[in-house]
Amino acid sequence: MKRFARLNTLSALLLAASLTTGIAHAQLAPSAPAAGAPTQASEARKANIVIIGTGGTIAGAGAAATNTAAYQSAVVPVDKIIASVPEISKIANVKGEQVFQIGSESFNNERLLKLGKRVSELLKQPDVDGIVITHGTDTIEETTYFLNLTLKSDKPVVVVGSMRPGTALGADGALNLYDAVLVASSPESRGKGTLAVLNDEIHTGRDVTKSNTFKIETFRSPFGPLGYVVEGRTLYYRLPARPHTMQTEWDIDKIDKLPEVAVVYAYGNVNPASIDAAVKNGAKAIVYAATGNGSVGDYMVEPLKAARAKGVQIVRASRTGGGVVVRNAEQPDDKYDWLVTDDQLPQKARILMALALTKTNDTKELQKIFWKY
Ligand code: DGL
Repeated sequence: MKRFARLNTLSALLLAASLTTGIAHAQLAPSAPAAGAPTQASEARKANIVIIGTGGTIAGAGAAATNTAAYQSAVVPVDKIIASVPEISKIANVKGEQVFQIGSESFNNERLLKLGKRVSELLKQPDVDGIVITHGTDTIEETTYFLNLTLKSDKPVVVVGSMRPGTALGADGALNLYDAVLVASSPESRGKGTLAVLNDEIHTGRDVTKSNTFKIETFRSPFGPLGYVVEGRTLYYRLPARPHTMQTEWDIDKIDKLPEVAVVYAYGNVNPASIDAAVKNGAKAIVYAATGNGSVGDYMVEPLKAARAKGVQIVRASRTGGGVVVRNAEQPDDKYDWLVTDDQLPQKARILMALALTKTNDTKELQKIFWKY
C-alpha cells in the first residue's frame, strides 16, 4: 500500500528546523488546542487519513442532475470520490482503499467483521492518524455502533455517507466527505468512539439513526449530535455517555463469528410462525420489536415463551423509535426470563445482543450489558 511519504519528509524538515532554530516544534504549528476549543487544520500538522470505500449513495451516480433519489448506488470507486473533492488535500494526507462496492443494505455479519478487522489493522499502523469510511446511509447506524463497541483504538474513525449522488443538484456527499476528513483529522475527535458525520453534524455511533428515506437531514440522535463541523472547524459540545472502543469488553480482532440474532417486527395480526421461523433458522436470540413500551400481543406470549424454553434469548424492544422499554412493566420479564433493551433501537439491539452472546448466555449478565452500553 502506498505510504504517507510526504508527511514523513515534511515532519522531518520541520523537526530539523525547530531543533536548529531552537523553536519548539509546537510553535511551528498551532499547539494542540485545549479540549473543546475549535480546531483549524493547518499545513504543518496534516493528519494521515485512510478513506475506506464500501459503496452506497456517496459512491452513486444518477442519469440526470435532477435524479436526487433515483440513481445507481455503489458505482464510483473511492479514489474517484476523493479526487472529486480536491479541497481534502489541503487538510490531510489521504489515501483510498476499496473494501466493498455495495449498497449498505447488503451488509451482513461477515462483511461487518471484514470491514472491522481491516479498520483495526489500519489503526495499528503508526503512520495512520485516523480512518474515514464511506458507507451507504441505510445501515450506517449498525456499522457505526458495531465499530463503536469493538475497535481498540483512540484514533478517530468516522463513518460518512450521503443522501444524494454526486451527480445530483444539491449533492451532499462532497461536503460530508470533506467534513468527515476534518473530524477524523482533529485531535478533539480522539477518544470519542466511532462517529458518524453528515449534514454538518457529528453523531456518536451509539445514538445515530436514519429517520427519513430521502431528506438531507435524515440522521438524528435522540439526545442530539455531539457537535458540529462548519467552516473547517470541529466543534464538540457533548461527550458519549456510554462505554465505547477502549472501554468495552469486545475486541474486533478476537471475534471471528457473530451469533445469529433475529429481529421480529410486531404489528396487528403478527403471525406467531415468525418466531418459530427465527428459532428454526438457528437464532440464538430474538429481538422482538414490539409495540409501545414493548407490549406483546396475547397470542404472541406463548410462542415467545416456547422459544425461550428452547434456549433462545428473548429481548423486548420497541418499534416506536424512542424511549426505553421498562423491565417487568408490560410483561413479567423476571418470570419469563426475558430481557429488555434500554433505549437501543431494534436494529442496534441486534448488534449489541450478538456481541453480548460472545461473552455470556446468562440472562442477568445479558441484561446488565443492555443497561451498560
Ligand atoms: N442503497 C442505499 C445504501 O447503500 C442507498 C442509500 C444511501 O447510501 O444514502 O445505504
